[in-house]
Amino acid sequence: MDRVKTGILGCGVISSTYIKNIQELYRPLEIVACADVDTGKAEARAREFGIETWSGPDHLLENKDVSMIINLTPPKFHYELNRRILMAGKNLFCEKPFAFTWEQARELTELAEKRGVRIGGAPDTFLGPGLQRTRLLLERGAIGQPLYLNAAMMSCGVETWHPAPAQFYQEGAGPLYDMGPYYLTAVVALFGPIAEIRAMAATGFERRKIYSQPLAGVELTVETPTYYTALLKLSGGLIANLTISFDIWKSNLPMFEIYGTEGTLSAPDPNMTSGMPEVIRKEAVLADRKAAAEPLNRSFPDEEELRRLYPETAEYIRGAGALDLAMAINENRPARAGMDLVCHVLEAINGIMEAAKSGGCYYMKTTCGRPEPLREGLSAGEVR
Ligand SMILES: NC(=O)c1ccc[n+]([C@@H]2O[C@H](COP(=O)([O-])OP(=O)(O)OC[C@H]3O[C@@H](n4cnc5c(N)ncnc54)[C@H](O)[C@@H]3O)[C@@H](O)[C@H]2O)c1
Repeated sequence: MDRVKTGILGCGVISSTYIKNIQELYRPLEIVACADVDTGKAEARAREFGIETWSGPDHLLENKDVSMIINLTPPKFHYELNRRILMAGKNLFCEKPFAFTWEQARELTELAEKRGVRIGGAPDTFLGPGLQRTRLLLERGAIGQPLYLNAAMMSCGVETWHPAPAQFYQEGAGPLYDMGPYYLTAVVALFGPIAEIRAMAATGFERRKIYSQPLAGVELTVETPTYYTALLKLSGGLIANLTISFDIWKSNLPMFEIYGTEGTLSAPDPNMTSGMPEVIRKEAVLADRKAAAEPLNRSFPDEEELRRLYPETAEYIRGAGALDLAMAINENRPARAGMDLVCHVLEAINGIMEAAKSGGCYYMKTTCGRPEPLREGLSAGEVR
């Protein structure tokens, strides 16, 4: 396969992670151009990473050498820029959220079909070894039949580290759009589609002080709920509790824990790429209580084997989803971080907001299959 000539749109914080990871790990992608409304930022990124061409957005869209664009602009520009990228005839991978509503995402999916190009969207962390190992353990029965799940993303907010935090608190932003996609995508990728949603929302602070540079000391106004707690019932019957917040200074809640008939699995944080799932089998719990201990079931891999099957990467990597999209185009197969998954997760976000507002139950309209697991034993830079 020829290297896929890729352009980066938006040269802010996350662009350096994408560019570094693609250049070091995902060699089938070749970043040939980068662009930003602030061309000074594009130039700085291009010089930092040895990218041939930098420009404003229009020039990137017109660049005939570029066949795929990775959209890393702020969420409020995604829908419109994604539409322009598709109209320009480019394949597209967009950071989360792909749009504000699942209807917008579906409209763009139809536009891509008309234009004969392919699209996909973040998050892609479920392709990392942490969640691929988790899936393998679940499929080999490590905790028996999964029954319940608890996911908690409790943070004190982006104003402690991001240089431009105000955008995260504007209407149409907030922790649910920003962090929800990681946890919801992990739920759906591991257990299949969501059927019903109940939820509550709150805003802990009307104004927030910025701690990060260059705006440290400035106050920002909060226009969105910053605490969401939701109950999800999956089509397969599993019940999940999901809490996502920017209002919590410190929490000891597990970030992603799954409870099954034979034990408990603590999965790595779905916002990260790597990490080792931990399984506590019921036998260990019973033995601990001095009850008659059954022999441990060894029919699932141990840590060493898991590392061999899904090799370790750095904890925080981005770009596997864009690589998978390029491979999917080449192999004429569905992309794993494809639009069925993106639309379903976006509908779940919209559904949580609606259920929180109405106090009622939101019944999901879209559905999707689970993306194929990665093949076992690939190197860290491969997706197949
Ligand atoms: N920061 C992170 O750690 C992180 C992690 C994962 C995903 N993301 C996602 O990546 C995206 C970007 O986040 P970020 O933190 O890098 O934001 P950022 O604000 O640091 O950077 C965004 C860049 O886009 C540029 N931009 C704005 N409007 C544009 C336009 N119309 N055309 C071209 N460029 C434009 C800005 O000048 C800026 O350089 C968001 O969707 C976010 O959810 C961020």
